[in-house]
Amino acid sequence: MNREVKGKVVVVTGAANGLGLAMVTSFLDQGVRFAILLDMDEQKGKESLANLKQKFGNDRAVFYKCDVSKDLDKIFETIKNNHKHIDILVNNAGVLDEGNLKRTMDINSIAVMEWTVKFYKYMSLANGGTTHTNMADYPNAWEDSVNEFVEDLKSNYDWQDPSAIGEGTVEIFRKADSGSAWVVEGSRSAEKIKV
Ligand SMILES: NC(=O)c1ccc[n+]([C@@H]2O[C@H](COP(=O)([O-])OP(=O)(O)OC[C@H]3O[C@@H](n4cnc5c(N)ncnc54)[C@H](O)[C@@H]3O)[C@@H](O)[C@H]2O)c1
Repeated sequence: MNREVKGKVVVVTGAANGLGLAMVTSFLDQGVRFAILLDMDEQKGKESLANLKQKFGNDRAVFYKCDVSKDLDKIFETIKNNHKHIDILVNNAGVLDEGNLKRTMDINSIAVMEWTVKFYKYMSLANGGTTHTNMADYPNAWEDSVNEFVEDLKSNYDWQDPSAIGEGTVEIFRKADSGSAWVVEGSRSAEKIKV
């Protein structure tokens, strides 16, 4: 597998904000040719694209409004027609909506599988593609426990800046073999884990 980031085309879902935006920034920083940002938040997406254009130039990124649980077929055609080649897909879009577990599962689980299946063939090695990464979380029904857990994490662990995830994602792309699982903890380098 070609692990070089330079010259590649990356698609990141949930890229208007947070970790997805940090990943796009790291990929562009390290030389991807083009980043395709997808998000349902159009205002934030346009804002983030404008900032990226200021930093990296006008021809390195594009934003498309898209709900990963509804718009896969439409956006897949748009990407295929406008950009032809895709190297990397990061399924990052996710929500934690305990009031609507079906929506949470549709976005965090079903969409991740549907997107993976749809893009997999198109991005096959035979087609010149390289890899994809899934990031989405799963719902936790116990809000109080989550709050306690977060407080515990804040006091006991190295709190994580989104840029650590952005850089870690690029590092994983460079190092990970197909089928392996990796974590990025705190500001440390990405580590391979046994699953
Ligand atoms: N932040 C963390 O500590 C953490 C830890 C582990 C995993 N994760 C996972 O990483 C991913 C990103 O987390 P984050 O903290 O950056 O979240 P965030 O809420 O800051 O950003 C998520 C982005 O996804 C977009 N989004 C949500 N639903 C969407 C949909 N249906 N279609 C398209 N876009 C959608 C949102 O508009 C937002 O821009 C999530 O899947 C989250 O579950 C986060």
